[in-house]
Amino acid sequence: MQVAEKVVLVTGASMGIGRAIAHALVKRGAKVAFAARSLDLLEAEVAKAGPNALAVRLDVTSATSVAQAMAAVERRFGRLDVVVNNAGSGGPLKRWEELEPDALRAMFDVHVLGSERVMRAAVPLLRRGGGGALVNFASTLGYVAMPGTSAYNAAKAAIIMLSQTVRQELAGDGIDVRVFSPPHTSTESGRSMPLNLPKIFEPDWVAAQFVKFLEGKKAEALPGGNGALLFVQRLSPALAQRIMNGIGFKALENVARLLPGAH
Ligand SMILES: NC(=O)c1ccc[n+]([C@@H]2O[C@H](COP(=O)([O-])OP(=O)(O)OC[C@H]3O[C@@H](n4cnc5c(N)ncnc54)[C@H](OP(=O)(O)O)[C@@H]3O)[C@@H](O)[C@H]2O)c1
Repeated sequence: MQVAEKVVLVTGASMGIGRAIAHALVKRGAKVAFAARSLDLLEAEVAKAGPNALAVRLDVTSATSVAQAMAAVERRFGRLDVVVNNAGSGGPLKRWEELEPDALRAMFDVHVLGSERVMRAAVPLLRRGGGGALVNFASTLGYVAMPGTSAYNAAKAAIIMLSQTVRQELAGDGIDVRVFSPPHTSTESGRSMPLNLPKIFEPDWVAAQFVKFLEGKKAEALPGGNGALLFVQRLSPALAQRIMNGIGFKALENVARLLPGAH
C-alpha cells in the first residue's frame, strides 16, 4: 500500500512510538488523525505536523469515545483507509502471583478489547472506501513467554490470534489485518522495563520500520532482530525459552534491586 494521500488513524499518538509513527506518516504524505486521551499533548503535536494532521480525543476503553473519534475523522477527511492500533503501555514487571487482582482485566481492556473496539468501529468506514488496513500492535512477548510480564504477554498473544483470525474473515473485503511488533524501544513505558538488552531502539527508527512495513506486503513484522528469536523458537523452543527466562528473571532481579519494597 502506498501511504501518500491515505487517511490514517493512529491511536496512542500523544507520545512514544505512536507519536513518532503519526509524524512519519504525515511526512510520507498521509492525512493523519493523532488520537489518544491527552488532547493537549495531541494538539501540540498536530501544530508541529501541519494541515494534514488532526487531533482527536480517544479513549480505547470506551466504545462511545471510539465512535466519536471515528465520526471526527470522517467529518474532517471524509474517509478512513488505515488504522494503526498502537495505544497502550506495558505493565509493571512482577511475578504473576504478585499482580494486583485486576491487572489482567485492565491490560486486556486497553490492549485487546481496546484494539477490538477500534477495529469494530473502523471496519464499516474501511468497507465504504473499498478496503484498507487494520494494523494491530503486538510484541515479541506475544510470541514468546517472558517471566515478569504475564498480563502483557497474554494480552499481546490474544491480539496476535485475534488479528490472524479476523485477517482470514476480512480478506475477501480487501481489508488487510496486520500485526506489527516493535522491538524494545526508548519510550516512557519501554524505559520503565530494565531488560538489560544490548540495544534499545529510538521511536523514530521504529516509525521508519513501520512505514516500510505498511508499504510492503508482509502480514506481520518484528523489526530490530526479534524475528531471529522466533526462528530460534521454531528450531528449538527450549533454547528460545531459556533465553527469555534469562532476560525476564534478570529484569525481576533488577526491579527488586532498584525498587526495594516493590514486591
Ligand atoms: N516501548 C516498547 O519497548 C514496546 C515494545 C513492544 C511493543 N510495544 C507496544 O507499542 C505500543 C506503544 O508503546 P509505547 O512504548 O509507545 O507506549 P507509551 O510511550 O507508554 O505510549 C502509550 C500511548 O498509548 C496511549 N494510551 C494509553 N491508554 C490509552 C487509552 N485507554 N486510550 C487511548 N490511548 C491510550 C497513551 O496516550 P494517553 O495517555 O494520552 O491516552 C500514549 O500515547 C503499545 O501497544 C506497546 O505495547 C512497545
